[in-house]
Parts: sequence; C-alpha cells; structure tokens
Amino acid sequence: MGLIYSKKIIKGSFFTSRTDKEVYFVKDALIETDDNGEITKIINPADQDYQRTLEDAKENKQLVETRDDEYVLPGFIDLHVHAPQWPQAGLALDQPLNEWLEQYTFPLEAKYQDLEFARKSYRHLTRNLVKNGTTTALYFGTIHEDANLILAEECQHVGQRAFIGQVVMDNPEQTPKYYRDSSTKEALNKTIDFIKQIRTLYQDSDLIQPVVTPRFVPNCTDEALEGLGQIAKKFDVLVQSHCSESDWEHGYAIERFGKTDTEVLKQYGLLNEKSVMAHGTLLTEANMDTFKDEKAAIAHCPISNAYFGNAVLPTRKLLERKIKVGIGTDISGGFSSSMYRNIQQALISSRMLEDGVDAQKPAAERGVAGARISAKQAFYMATIGGAEALHIRAGQIKVGFKADLQIVRDELSAISSNASQDVFERLMYQTNADNISKVFVSGKLVDHK
Ligand code: GUN
Ligand code: FE
Repeated sequence: MGLIYSKKIIKGSFFTSRTDKEVYFVKDALIETDDNGEITKIINPADQDYQRTLEDAKENKQLVETRDDEYVLPGFIDLHVHAPQWPQAGLALDQPLNEWLEQYTFPLEAKYQDLEFARKSYRHLTRNLVKNGTTTALYFGTIHEDANLILAEECQHVGQRAFIGQVVMDNPEQTPKYYRDSSTKEALNKTIDFIKQIRTLYQDSDLIQPVVTPRFVPNCTDEALEGLGQIAKKFDVLVQSHCSESDWEHGYAIERFGKTDTEVLKQYGLLNEKSVMAHGTLLTEANMDTFKDEKAAIAHCPISNAYFGNAVLPTRKLLERKIKVGIGTDISGGFSSSMYRNIQQALISSRMLEDGVDAQKPAAERGVAGARISAKQAFYMATIGGAEALHIRAGQIKVGFKADLQIVRDELSAISSNASQDVFERLMYQTNADNISKVFVSGKLVDHK
C-alpha cells in the first residue's frame, strides 16, 4: 500500500453532477489538484492556458493521463455500511430483520472483540470498497472501541475518507448479553472517549471523523438515546442510526413510545442537519416533513430494502421535496459492496414502485405514478446526496472541492456509441471493480489493487 502525495494535473474527460437533473460533461479537461488535496483549477481545451499547463505538468512529472476510453468521475459516497458484517455479505437474507440480527449478525459482530480478526476483516473491506470506487464511507463499527480504532487505522492506511461510529446498544430487552454495552454509563463514556481519541489521533488527517451511533431505537434505552443526543450536540458530531426500516422496527417504536422513531429520535436531539438515518422505507408523510424541516438525511439502501425494508423508498418524491438523500450499500443487509450495483438497484426499485406488483389491476391503478428515477438522479444521490448529508466538500468535480475521484474504463467504447449521454448511462450500468483503473482521495492515488 502506498500513497502518492503532491500536486498533480489529471487529464481526462469527466462527468459530474451539479443538480439532480443534470450531469455535466467536459471532454479532455485538465483537473488541477494541490498539496491539500483540493481541486484548484479545471481547464477546458478551449481555455488559453490549456497547452501551457499541459506542457508544464509533463515537464514537472505531475501529469496523470487517461486513455481515450477512460473517464473521470467523483468517487462515490457510501452513506451506510456496517463494517463488521462484511464476512457475511449475502448470507441468511431469507430471514426477517429481527431474526437475521439475533441469529447471524450479533454473533458475528461480537467476534470483533478479537482484534486480530478485526484487523483482517477491516483490511479486506476497506480495500474492497476503494477498489469499487467508494472514496468516502459512513461506517457503523461495533460496541468494541479498540476494534473501531482499528477500522479507523485501516481507512487511514488505505487512504479512504471515513466517518466511523462507536455503536451503542444497551437495552437488555432487545440485545443479547454477549453483545451488549455493560451499562448505559459505560456506553456513553465509550462514545465520548472514541470521539476524543479519533479527534486526537487524526487531527492532522482530513480523512477520519467520529460519529454518534445509537444502533437503532429498539437496541437503546431512553437514557442512552438522551445521553447520545447531548453528546452529539456538545461535541458537534454527526449522528447515524436506522429509522423506519421495516414493519417490525417501525411498529416497535410506536408500541414502546406511542410515536414513530422519527419523532423519538427528534425528541432526543438525534434528528437534525447532522443526522443520517438509514432506510426510512416506512416513513409517514409527516415523518418526511420532519426530515425536511430538520434537514436530516436519509441513506437509501436499495438492495437491503428489497430484503428487509418491506417497502420501496420513494426516492423521486424525496428528491422533489428537497429532502437530503444519499445511497448506502448497507453491507450486509445489502450483499454488494459496489455503489454501482446499488445505483442500479435504486433505478430498478423505483421502476418497480412505479409499475406496481398487481397485474390484475388496470394499468392506471398499478404502482405509484411518476416514481421512477433516472440514472442522473441515482448518480446525484451517490455523490452530491452523500456529500451534503456528511457536510463535506466532495462528490463533485469542481474547484474548491476535495479531489476524491475515480478513473473508470468504458469497456464497450470500441463497439458502441460514444455520445456523452450514452457513455454516462453505460458507465452507471456496466462498471465493476475491474474497470476502475485509479482512485484518488484528497488528490492522493490510492494503491488499491
Ligand atoms: N437495524 C439495526 N441493526 C441493523 C443492521 O445491522 N442492519 C440493518 N439492515 N438494519 C439494522
Ligand atoms: Fe444498516
């Protein structure tokens, strides 16, 4: 593993979102990045200083050239991933959520008290995500602080931008004894300590940030939810959790609190502009209004939702209402670590929501009219949507933004249309890890192969 530091000029054609309705394309641009890993200049072939900049970059050995069949895209932002669940990706997905958690997921996560296992597993995952073009991830760790610090080390080492959560689960009624914080007080103290440790250890890095992480309402006591809301405010950190993921989970909060978990999270100071809530498939109209008012974000996990969500998240509606929404793999509720695969599923799920499931109904009564999203909208969510949720200047190829980039090869270029719209759609549908030739985070080449 090695990182290449320093200023560079990347010469290539690029696609980037600007809004959810348009993808911006520039052919043969020069993208200049500085020592701080930011994009400082974008020069088009028609610009006056193009030729001179190109020649200087060659002479100073700062030029990164791309092939004619390669394109530069912003790196993807995985807005919801359970790092410890990678070893069981694709397993037991026929189980309902609560049984999958109890019988498979909690026993696996409990194994991360073994730090050697944690190292091995986290090393494998972080490299895999970067290989797939994911330059930033919002991670759930486990209840083990030392293992979460190892996850941070692995992200820093491979060079991935990472937001990492010390998971809190202290409710004896909904957690097994072998995988539970030993007390509420201890859980809160571990969260505070984790925030302090990460901030101290990575004060000179722009890559690693801590996140307040109540696993979800069922796993937490009222005292833990309240304490975590206070900690998030005091230390001004992001919050992540799950919200209205399934009939079971949505119903649980109503039974325990007499209100939905959106309202519970809000009551405890856990739903605001710094919050990212996974799934939301069962959100009510009023809950969506609350997300909008509080400027809280939803991590759409389309593959996972097909198994556990009990409904399709209406992403088109969220985008139209300007509710913040990004895309998450939700490893291992989602089996794939690829954001491309999740972009594809976001598109497919929106089509199935639009067309409905009941062939016996007249066409006009099937599904939800106007629910489909476009590839541009899915790309927007995977880049700008995630960046806005995390408050980072990334996810776009734009001056002043982090140079978090992926260079992707179009395998069909020699035999297909090379009109920019066609290339864009093809990249969204055909790219896998093998076609991703280079990945940069903060302008540093990540040696991911
Ligand atoms: N709800 C609480 N924990 C989890 C988890 O690990 N995965 C999913 N999909 N939902 C959850
Ligand atoms: Fe999840």
